[in-house]
Amino acid sequence: MSPDTLSQRPVISATGLFTPEQSITNEELVESFNAFVDRHNDERADLIASGEEEPLTYSSVEFIEKASGIKARHVMSKVPILDPGVMEPRWDERPNGELSIMAEIGVIAAREALERAGRKPEDVDAVLCAASNMQRAYPAMAIEIQQALGIDGFGFDMNVACSSATFGIQTAADYVRAGNAKSVLVVSPEITSGHLNWRDRDSHFIFGDVATAVLVEDAAIAPDEHWDILGTKLKTVFSNNIRNNFGFLNRAHPETADEADKLFVQEGRKVFKEVVPMVAQMILDEAERLGIDPKALRRMWLHQANAGMNRLIAQKVLGHEANEDESPTVLDTYGNTSSAGSIIAFHLHSDDLTAGDAGLICSFGAGYSAGTVFVRKAA
Ligand code: COA
Repeated sequence: MSPDTLSQRPVISATGLFTPEQSITNEELVESFNAFVDRHNDERADLIASGEEEPLTYSSVEFIEKASGIKARHVMSKVPILDPGVMEPRWDERPNGELSIMAEIGVIAAREALERAGRKPEDVDAVLCAASNMQRAYPAMAIEIQQALGIDGFGFDMNVACSSATFGIQTAADYVRAGNAKSVLVVSPEITSGHLNWRDRDSHFIFGDVATAVLVEDAAIAPDEHWDILGTKLKTVFSNNIRNNFGFLNRAHPETADEADKLFVQEGRKVFKEVVPMVAQMILDEAERLGIDPKALRRMWLHQANAGMNRLIAQKVLGHEANEDESPTVLDTYGNTSSAGSIIAFHLHSDDLTAGDAGLICSFGAGYSAGTVFVRKAA
């Protein structure tokens, strides 16, 4: 296809999803956590008895479900996570000649997106690996995924925490708008179990593993069944309320007593209070800019972090309490899958919409960051 036959109008041609087979229920998670608490308190009994240390307290299934809406989460490595003596995902380090684990799951999701669009890898121009954690510094995960798929073009990684996928969609859409690419894969392999502190009662239940892919293309080459991108908007506002200090300038050192800040930490209440109004206002402003009546949105595929947050955001946008049909939940079985959450919701709950239906993919999270992608089903 020559550049002058392109429309420079970006659409979503298809999506793909990889779901790990293994899953951990709240019951299994809490049983393992509480066994760790008993072990910890036994080992530190003297310090606790002398008042130098506070004992750790049990987690509870009821709290987790009530506070978050999460009932289970998929993971790539269940046994070590649930072992009270390990409590982190583990797998054999792979030799450099073997596909790395993040690339592997990204490729599975990407292949599904390509298949659903009827697209050959050689027709794709670029791969963006947009995720909240990369398993190494370089070479970019995106380039490994590009090579595994057989794409002749370019790829790079981008990290905007939970908003990575929507930031990736806007970046891909901008390539199409500029005429620099006609077909761009946005792949979000989220192995969040690696950055979660499974020993932290306040957050051990939050995350799950998954991979998603979104194929953003020029309307001129898209399959008949696609989603027009009506508009994209991104926003960031610095906050320390969700933070992870891990990095090669900032590694965990054995002499440092508290290494918890080298994993995910958050002030959950503050996040809830600050992010809900910011995101709701952003959606309303963007809808107005695009001339869309927010109350007429057929469906919202919101970021999946907390059921209560989604309820409040959807209510502010739609003007009434949203039902499952208007704002579907995948959080209950997937947990918070970081940037992939809204894409999973879109992938699993969009086939039933009909031509002309408008909807919103929206993500938000650390940074703070937020992204909106208004879409309309074309056929
Ligand atoms: N089991 C039992 N009780 C627990 C618990 C657990 N696992 N974790 C915390 N608690 C207790 C706390 O100790 C606290 O007790 P206290 O009132 O006696 O002090 C109480 O439950 C409330 O804790 P709090 O942390 O304030 O809970 P919450 O209602 O705010 O819910 C979150 C916690 C994390 C689920 C919620 O704040 C949230 O989802 N926030 C937004 C998170 C988000 O979107 N983050 C983005 C990540 S990308």
